Amino acid sequence: MTKNQRAEELKKILIVGSGGRENSIAWALSKNQSIEQIYVFPGNGGTANFEKCICLKLKAEDEKTIISECKRLEIDLVIIGPEVPLAEGLANKMREAELTVFGPGKDGAQLEASKEWAKALMIENNIPTAKYWSTRSKEEALEILKRFNQPMVVKADGLAAGKGVTVCETIEQTKESIKEIFSGKFGSAGNKVILEEKIEGPEVSIFALCDGEKLVVLPPAQDHKRLLDGDNGPNTGGMGAYAPALLINEQDLKDLTELILVPTLKGLQKKKIKYIGVIYAGLMLTSSGPKVIEFNCRFGDPECQALMPLMGEEFASVLFACARGGLEDAPKLTFKSECSACIVAASKGYPENPQKGKKISINVESSSSLQVFHAGTTIDGFDNIVTSGGRVFSIVAQGETFDKAFDLAYSNLKGISFDGMHFRKDIGYQVRNI
Ligand code: AMP
Ligand code: GLY
Repeated sequence: MTKNQRAEELKKILIVGSGGRENSIAWALSKNQSIEQIYVFPGNGGTANFEKCICLKLKAEDEKTIISECKRLEIDLVIIGPEVPLAEGLANKMREAELTVFGPGKDGAQLEASKEWAKALMIENNIPTAKYWSTRSKEEALEILKRFNQPMVVKADGLAAGKGVTVCETIEQTKESIKEIFSGKFGSAGNKVILEEKIEGPEVSIFALCDGEKLVVLPPAQDHKRLLDGDNGPNTGGMGAYAPALLINEQDLKDLTELILVPTLKGLQKKKIKYIGVIYAGLMLTSSGPKVIEFNCRFGDPECQALMPLMGEEFASVLFACARGGLEDAPKLTFKSECSACIVAASKGYPENPQKGKKISINVESSSSLQVFHAGTTIDGFDNIVTSGGRVFSIVAQGETFDKAFDLAYSNLKGISFDGMHFRKDIGYQVRNI
């Protein structure tokens, strides 16, 4: 089968997820002329804004119903956005049903779903990461701390919606965090705990699209995890991002690919895991070299929203080729050489207890260099768009420079309003003149 025939077979896609990430993937894929229909399950209030995109409505939200609906609709490619369904094995069940899926199985998703597992994989494959200890008991954790005698980073082993990490400033705070985590703060995610040495340096994220054996690397991005300006306040899923991150140049990215991404994929292969999907490596560039602080088994949110407008038209074919295990048949993935800026607008109370049900007014004219991606939005019984989650929108803009891209994004953000809306004013401070 030739490469072109393969690409042409891709007519119907299902994207699983409801966030800004899935909304931006749907938008990017909708630009591909040969794709006829993109379903998003469950999608959000902005899914149907893009040509060919609709929310998939199901009678029940269980795996069986999703799979039988994929069969009935003759879906050619399923893309699974969030980590939870990946860690629960949705991709495995779909592949058993002979669907073509972009997203790792339960085994590969452990890269994100178990920090202990990911750490062991890094050690086995000489991938640089912070020193760590893994434990299942509070007493042992306190003993490790006593011996280490420095403030540490305390991490729940399992998925904790981005909240399972505490970077402690003092030994006393480390003790408190250990006690807290073993008292069940993160439920079963905290049954196992990782204690890590604290490392320092700027953070950058790198991404590979994998077909099980080979990979293609995307431009690096930088996220802004803290809620408030100046990197203050609690950790969130991410309040903004930009790409490409200028902290690393083309040669650095090549070196990091050889140092981190290739050995990770090879390490997975050694475990007989055919990893199809995104390997996302969150790095810290320390004075003793780059080190991995986390892996994710999916696109980042909101990094994905910043990246999607940079993707060349081949993006759909490349995802499809990965899912079919034949990246060598895919066209070369190209990237627009622009600066892309993404700002997240969040609800009052995010991340702890976001307000919902607030009416949204949107007066933004999208263009080839400006996109509005919905996240926590829904359409109520009166056809109003209302808030339904913590992160409500991402506004994304591109320009020749980051100053131009951020100016365009921030000036258009004024066109969106809802009660309690807040956003960071300093996203991209690393690359802007502010
Ligand atoms: P994670 O949820 O694993 O992304 O961690 C959240 C944040 O904690 C990261 O973005 C880092 O800023 C910080 N962090 C994680 N591990 C370490 C470490 N070993 N040393 C210092 N900071 C860390
Ligand atoms: N923005 C970070 C993440 O998606 O985990």
